Amino acid sequence: MAAAEDLVGNDVVDLDDPDIASSHLRDRFVERVCDPAERARVRSASDPKVLLWTMFAAKEAAYKVLVKLGCAPGFAHRRLGVAADLRSVRFEGVRLRLWIDRRVDGAVHAVASTGARAPLSDVRRVAFTTGGPRADAGVAARRLACVRVARSVGRPAAALAIERAPLEESWDGFGPPVLLCDGRPCPGADVSLSHDGRFVAFAAAIVPEIARRTGASATRSSSRAAPRSPRGSAAWRGGARSRPRGHAAGLRAARSR
Ligand SMILES: CC(C)(COP(=O)(O)OP(=O)(O)OC[C@H]1O[C@@H](n2cnc3c(N)ncnc32)[C@H](O)[C@@H]1OP(=O)(O)O)[C@@H](O)C(=O)NCCC(=O)NCCS
Repeated sequence: MAAAEDLVGNDVVDLDDPDIASSHLRDRFVERVCDPAERARVRSASDPKVLLWTMFAAKEAAYKVLVKLGCAPGFAHRRLGVAADLRSVRFEGVRLRLWIDRRVDGAVHAVASTGARAPLSDVRRVAFTTGGPRADAGVAARRLACVRVARSVGRPAAALAIERAPLEESWDGFGPPVLLCDGRPCPGADVSLSHDGRFVAFAAAIVPEIARRTGASATRSSSRAAPRSPRGSAAWRGGARSRPRGHAAGLRAARSR
């Protein structure tokens, strides 16, 4: 079971994205993403492309946890060390547990957590083509996450939403995603979303006894008073994105630094 303070991050990579087909052959890119030990592992791997993008996903998943811990490096993949057994990621004094999921053909999904227990997570292939609409992918990732966490929270998926609060110092002006139950942030739950090419994915650390308590009190109060919904505030953001992103964007960013 997750502990109340567990924080999660995830990242999915579409391994068939043509933009990443030969990135493992570009020394400059590999050097920007990997430290010397990781580069040696990529060089000797039976499938260097898959190992490179598995480590990339691991670092991005860890980055999303580090943001929540308040100690994320900006665009510094090489400073995050992925263990050779792919079971942990280190950044300075922080060690995060790592789970790599290759069960869905064509995708690698990395999940990082401050806790020792595997978070709830899933990855799904959806009907988008590579470079398809990011807003739709955000909606699909949220739907997948809400359906899968509903039981742990003790509320129907329709009562759940995942949104991002404004955060000035963040790279895009918004903070990490937050699970809302009947419009209110749900204590005892931490979530992470990712979408790339044909895939959407999520990870969640839920402490059912805390999250369910909140769900039950929300059910009781919803008939009496309208919730103080962050959704009522235009400043919170759901699935829509305006800036093109994804791993092709990350790749370009890493290459240009
Ligand atoms: C934040 C970042 C990791 C997102 O990765 P991405 O490959 O572009 O996109 P993904 O689909 O994997 O993740 C997108 C989701 O991450 C979440 N997210 C965005 N910013 C986040 C943050 N600062 N912390 C945690 N989660 C965040 C959002 O829920 C977003 O989905 P949404 O737009 O539908 O709400 C990426 O934009 C980035 O790398 N930014 C900063 C640069 C950097 O330093 N990277 C890591 C170096 S080690």
